[in-house]
Amino acid sequence: MPPTLNSATSFAHWFRQCTPYIHAHRGRTFVIAFGGEALDDPALPTLVHDIALLHGLGIRLVLVHGARPQIERRLAERGTELHYIGGLRITDDAALACVKDAAGSARVELEALLSMGLANSPMAGVRIPVASGNFVIARPIGVLDGVDYQHTGKVRRIDREALRAALDAGAVALMPPIGYSPTGEVFNLSAADVARAAAVALAADKLIFLVEGEGVTDAADRPASSLLAGDVDALLAGDAGLPEELAQALRAGADACRSGIRRVHLIPRAQDGALLQELFTRDGAGTLISDRPFEELRPARIDDIPGIRALLEPLEQAGVLVPRPREDLEEVIDRFRVTERDGTVISCAALFCWPEEQIGELACVVVHPDYRTRGRGDRLLAHMEALARERGLKRLFVLTTQTAHWFRERGFEPAGVGDLPTTRRAAYNARRNSKVYMKRLAATAESAQVP
Ligand SMILES: CC(C)(COP(=O)(O)OP(=O)(O)OC[C@H]1O[C@@H](n2cnc3c(N)ncnc32)[C@H](O)[C@@H]1OP(=O)(O)O)[C@@H](O)C(=O)NCCC(=O)NCCS
Repeated sequence: MPPTLNSATSFAHWFRQCTPYIHAHRGRTFVIAFGGEALDDPALPTLVHDIALLHGLGIRLVLVHGARPQIERRLAERGTELHYIGGLRITDDAALACVKDAAGSARVELEALLSMGLANSPMAGVRIPVASGNFVIARPIGVLDGVDYQHTGKVRRIDREALRAALDAGAVALMPPIGYSPTGEVFNLSAADVARAAAVALAADKLIFLVEGEGVTDAADRPASSLLAGDVDALLAGDAGLPEELAQALRAGADACRSGIRRVHLIPRAQDGALLQELFTRDGAGTLISDRPFEELRPARIDDIPGIRALLEPLEQAGVLVPRPREDLEEVIDRFRVTERDGTVISCAALFCWPEEQIGELACVVVHPDYRTRGRGDRLLAHMEALARERGLKRLFVLTTQTAHWFRERGFEPAGVGDLPTTRRAAYNARRNSKVYMKRLAATAESAQVP
């Protein structure tokens, strides 16, 4: 949560924290999809203002909207309704007329909101061109198990060049859940499918679904902050009772990940400001779907050194850790493991081995202060112990001045300087008077595999 803006300092602090994201997002392409519910919500202008802000920050935007409530309303007025079979809708002639009608109205409404320029509104002085058109080439779903889905279609392809040209010209591209076939027919599509196809065609940097309700929650009923594409498959295969529109977003999101979209976000639409929070804060507000773990524990690389230094430096200054300058780190970077979270190193540890004595030193065990007390230290330790076992080590030691109890509670026993390998003993700094703790490693790994 941004701090309350009760002073220029806190405002400046809050704004500065957004800076890396502002730079990172400029010139990127985001596809943002939302259901027709957003169009009925009195808060729609606020969402459109946030979208206009993203455009103002140089983000190339494609907006894909659904129209289900609007279509259903129009059908109800005619005394009929949409028919679904296995979650798939059947679009008959009457439904298609409503689809066209609803999509046309939605377009006008969104264009009007994006054209607003009132002096006392967040859109003052803003001029946002909007482009929409026949970007989606579609084909009929056809007859499945004897059921003719009539005007319900699938995306066949996206006119990438036309869409790119619109974005290059500085426009926000608007895509309704409608596609056209080379035979001149119109098809009713799922907005999630259109969004997925547009994101893949443009090789978008992000595909964002603004979903109804809370989105995906974890076992403790809290919004899940990240999911792997494989988790999504399991969720969809299980009987999770997911609302159909959420299931469609998840399915499209996981497909997009597999087609190379690195970041797919599910954000609760009705939560005021959630879109901005997700895009401009480290922890976001929604669920990130990716094909790689969001938090990856992996061997460190040279380009991790600034991140590792940022973790070590405050502890070196406080005397908790022995200073380890950049040049030293470069030499031993292959001994380090780091956890990377969304491009930031949030924990690190190093393992130095004396293979002939089957002993190793665990050093530089640090978890970023914002991420402590949530089990990351434990996971890091388990990982380093597994690594030590893989290297054939039987014992692991640490030298510590202030973290003795943390290690003791994890099976490290007090030991003496005399227990250290000879070369390490020679380098022991008596003035620092660090305590030595030793752990005998069990023969079998209890922890996860080392990458
Ligand atoms: C020690 C450290 C790595 C633990 O990371 P973490 O992600 O918070 O670890 P976990 O979530 O697995 O464990 C948290 C528990 O450790 C305890 N803990 C944290 N620092 C401790 C310390 N110095 N001494 C004793 N216990 C400590 C916490 O109180 C918490 O216990 P609780 O849940 O019972 O309250 C982290 O606090 C850190 O980076 N500290 C500064 C660097 C440091 O001292 N490193 C050791 C170098 S030798």
